[in-house]
Amino acid sequence: MPNRTINLFPPGFLWGCATASHQVEGDLVNDWTRWEQTPGHIFQNQQSGRACEWWRGRYEEDFDRAAALHNNTQRISIEWSRIEPEAGKWDDSALNRYGDMLKALHTRGMKPMVTLHHYTHPLWFADRGGWLAEDAPALFERFVRRAVEALRDQCDLWCTINEPMIYATGSYVFGTRPPGMKRLSAAARVAINLLRGHVAAYRAIKALQPESRVGYAHAYVGLKPSPPALIHRAAWRLQDSFFNMAFLRAFRDGVAKFMGARPAEIPGIKEALDWVGLQYYTEFRAGFSLAAPGSGFLVQRVPGDLPAGPPGWGGLNPAALFDHIKRVWETVSKPVIISESGVPDPDDTIRPGYLAETVQAVWRALNFNFPVLGFYFWTLVDNFEWEHGYDPRFNFGLYKVDFATQARIARPSAAFYGEICAQNGLSAEMVERHAPGVLAKLFPGEPGKNNVKLRVGK
Ligand code: BGC
Repeated sequence: MPNRTINLFPPGFLWGCATASHQVEGDLVNDWTRWEQTPGHIFQNQQSGRACEWWRGRYEEDFDRAAALHNNTQRISIEWSRIEPEAGKWDDSALNRYGDMLKALHTRGMKPMVTLHHYTHPLWFADRGGWLAEDAPALFERFVRRAVEALRDQCDLWCTINEPMIYATGSYVFGTRPPGMKRLSAAARVAINLLRGHVAAYRAIKALQPESRVGYAHAYVGLKPSPPALIHRAAWRLQDSFFNMAFLRAFRDGVAKFMGARPAEIPGIKEALDWVGLQYYTEFRAGFSLAAPGSGFLVQRVPGDLPAGPPGWGGLNPAALFDHIKRVWETVSKPVIISESGVPDPDDTIRPGYLAETVQAVWRALNFNFPVLGFYFWTLVDNFEWEHGYDPRFNFGLYKVDFATQARIARPSAAFYGEICAQNGLSAEMVERHAPGVLAKLFPGEPGKNNVKLRVGK
């Protein structure tokens, strides 16, 4: 007899997938498409090009796929460079197109979440200094106002900024993303401006749509001190604070404290968050190394005791999501939405187990009363994975995409995720069929052994 144990989720829990405009739409002109043109920036010098052809209309068929997987929500992002291609000049046809996209979600029974900033910028904004410019938050706010005015009938769940610290570090510390700067103080300044931009956007959205729910998507990197911890603890603390905590703590303290900048008061920030998006992928060991003067002697190593992803990707420890939810909640006391979670895995050998462990970690958190409202899998279809381009080792999709033909082929995880969403839960029986390798870990009791009946009373 199969074990019917099921980790059931609360009614109304949001189940969906997350995507980002630059990665799926194609036919863009922004700071990333310019960055892609310089040899050496992207894997095999690839360019995003037509991506998944969503701007040519393929979002319709992909939304059909999401609906077939019983998703009741989707997270998409809208592209600032399309809506405001020149400073202060608006392209209403782009806004109408996004309106159609949102309608297409509603028609299929999916609630949209819209991200307003997912790494990319119009060229004019990048060229005048991007987020280093004093008035960047005001310019972002102006764009947000225009977009929300046009789309508020179709959306009330807004994510202002995706992974501000991944953006700030990738673009201003490691220099692997546009504008390719390597200066900690610049990253800190950008982070402070992103906080200001978030607050300005939050207020603008609330003024236009008081019933909306506004948050941002916070990347959380699993970090532990490299052994021996005694030597590396201070280096770990610095990294944990910069990557994981400083941005979040600003919402609690009203002050932004980033290494590389003077503490900055952010007026209004304590009242500018309805929920926080948590995005967690990998774990590293953090420490210091005399061999790394370029990064301030700070290093992150892939843990030797965890399964690892492709080169550059960290260790995989999905169950730790429970601890990260707890820490985020304890810091800001706001409802959490898992706004991204996934794993690069072209052959779908790791993904089913990773998904099962992650979903159970969320369920555990709910059982400890941590308010988690939804889960967005990264991602629906393979896409343009930033500096990794279309490198198959970085395929995250429930659907594999053949970019020569645009054909989509379901990976086994698609059906598994579809069952989780349909059942609003994760059952032992599902895990046995889709991810048998983690069955003993997630449902360790032996099936069929609950056959001793006890009588109540005498
Ligand atoms: C980003 C996505 C990205 C994913 C996988 C997140 O950091 O928000 O745009 O594709 O991780 O790397």
